[in-house]
Amino acid sequence: MAQILVIHGPNLNLLGRREPQIYGTATLEDINRQLAEAARPFPVELDFFQSNHEGEIIDRIHAAFGKAAGILINPGAYTHYSIAIRDAISSVSIPTVEVHLSNIHAREEFRHHSVIAPVAVGQISGFGEYGYTLGLFALVDFIQRKGTLA
Ligand code: DQA
Repeated sequence: MAQILVIHGPNLNLLGRREPQIYGTATLEDINRQLAEAARPFPVELDFFQSNHEGEIIDRIHAAFGKAAGILINPGAYTHYSIAIRDAISSVSIPTVEVHLSNIHAREEFRHHSVIAPVAVGQISGFGEYGYTLGLFALVDFIQRKGTLA
């Protein structure tokens, strides 16, 4: 089974309680459950990881080198400035899809720019919790088309 690493960045452990008018009421556990359900028809295994620490996220990306077929990541605020996470993604050359609950392009200007987007296959932003499912489908489709998934 192909492995997909699902990374939730800083403050996403507070989902459900954190600014629900922006991020919705689903908790991280709800989102992970929905993802596991959405992944069922595919020959993939999801590996979930959440951290509030940049270095831990980088270490987890490095550990996926040569193992994971894809990465689904919501880098949280690191989206906007973590060159280190961007470099980790490009270093391991694992197809990566970037997901945001909110539409980052419709919010404060500092959220409009993603340093991750140029090294991602694509970005999904603004569809709330459903964005993760969309991101997973897009990632699986990409990996299938590349021929690295049975
Ligand atoms: C977010 C958007 C980021 O700007 C913010 O810092 C987050 C969440 C989103 O999912 O909409 O923590 O990535």
